[in-house]
Amino acid sequence: MTKYVGSIDQGTTSTRFIIFDRRGEIISVDQKEHEQIYPKPGWVEHDPAEIWRNTQSVIAGALKKKGLTTANLVSVGITNQRETAVLWNRKTGAAVHNAVVWMDTRTDQLVAKFAKEGGQDRLRAKTGLPLATYFSGLKLRWLLDNVPGAQKAAEAGDLLFGNLDTWLVWNLTGGTQGGLHLTDVTNASRTQLMNLETLDWETDILNLFDIPRACLPQIRSSSEVYGKCTGVLADVPVAGILGDQQAALFGQACLQPGEAKNTYGTGCFMLMNTGEKPFHSTAGLVTTLGYKLGDNKPVYALEGSIAIAGALVQWLRDNLNLVKTAPEIESLANTVKDNGDVYFVPAFSGLYAPHWKESARGVIAGLTRFANKGHIARAALEATAYQTREVLDAMTKDSGVQIKELRTDGGMVVNELLMQFQSDILNVPVVRPKVIETTALGSAYAAGLATGYWNSTKDISDNWGVDKRWHPMMKEEQRSKLFSAWNKAVTRSLDWAV
Ligand code: G3P
Repeated sequence: MTKYVGSIDQGTTSTRFIIFDRRGEIISVDQKEHEQIYPKPGWVEHDPAEIWRNTQSVIAGALKKKGLTTANLVSVGITNQRETAVLWNRKTGAAVHNAVVWMDTRTDQLVAKFAKEGGQDRLRAKTGLPLATYFSGLKLRWLLDNVPGAQKAAEAGDLLFGNLDTWLVWNLTGGTQGGLHLTDVTNASRTQLMNLETLDWETDILNLFDIPRACLPQIRSSSEVYGKCTGVLADVPVAGILGDQQAALFGQACLQPGEAKNTYGTGCFMLMNTGEKPFHSTAGLVTTLGYKLGDNKPVYALEGSIAIAGALVQWLRDNLNLVKTAPEIESLANTVKDNGDVYFVPAFSGLYAPHWKESARGVIAGLTRFANKGHIARAALEATAYQTREVLDAMTKDSGVQIKELRTDGGMVVNELLMQFQSDILNVPVVRPKVIETTALGSAYAAGLATGYWNSTKDISDNWGVDKRWHPMMKEEQRSKLFSAWNKAVTRSLDWAV
């Protein structure tokens, strides 16, 4: 019987199950979108029960499509949207509130409260992160404050907290019938509650935020057999967990210090491997766990997080009906020869790296009667490239490493216009690998390495191959003119505070 490894990729907009072979190629995939719930401006929620239902459905769907059974799977890995907070009842298995999604800004008052004394960077030395609405620890604080009785129940150990990885592992391994309550170091590093060096929950921060340790999961490595699944994956070991951006770093074989990737999904996230010591940013990036394979030393990464990338295309599709399908944005952008002086700063959740300003809001700048929908589409695509330039500049400043080329992945990299413009605006070649589902692949590698399907990380490098490379073609004068106009538009967005 041919053996494979499965990966559950639980993202911001959809959940997928992808089955990979030894060469890292996709054998089968199934996918389901879930509802985005927007109760008020700046708030974004998901229904954890729907995500769990979709997860089971896509697992069954991907197996069925190719006539496979769980016996074909050596192990499964999980990769997930990070920082999205779920709090649930250990006895009933029901979430006590919708999941508070990573891009939600409802914790802005809590951020302001804790930053008042000691400033926004007071927890950076221990956690690598600035105080921001992004990370899940303060979302947990919000849930404990706003769900009646939650603080007491959490203290008593009746409520369990986790990012989506934790919610899925608990359900996959039996839920109310003894499900495992754990997470991996990469996800834990996004709560702002974990100490980057000890890899344990940081008591000082738990005390500061008044978070009961009893509701927190156990922190484990990213690649080890955690336990066996029940139900739809009965008896298959779950053996890998990586936050989705770290999974992409791993799946893109960025295994040496100085190697970097950029994933163009709902948001856009550039991570650079910085080796076995955390590297503290002074340029507005975050320090995060890259991965930890079993008992090996942890590998750290510098990250430039951009909240809105593909989400802007979705917004143009769903909220403005500018296009019917997301891929149409490229043909619409191609109806004009340039941006017509239009710049779109999509600060829908404030601005993340390198600005970290919750009060920033989206702006479209430079409009004249000349501008048409082609220019808006183009400005929307270019926004992702400019934001990436901001984080790459910060990364170069921090690390002193001039990257030779940028490895890309994620849904938007099929967009040729974006890839060429990205290379132009960075003045660096941009590379698309053969498998662009590197997020799912990364967590499959983590699970497969723990269960002997792959022997070592050399298999990851051997499997990695180039599909296409774009080289910069823009003149320096044009590049700096465009980028300085972008920077001007960003100042308008940062000034927005109402
Ligand atoms: O930090 C948020 C990130 O993990 C979300 O990723 O792929 O859903 O945009 P994605």
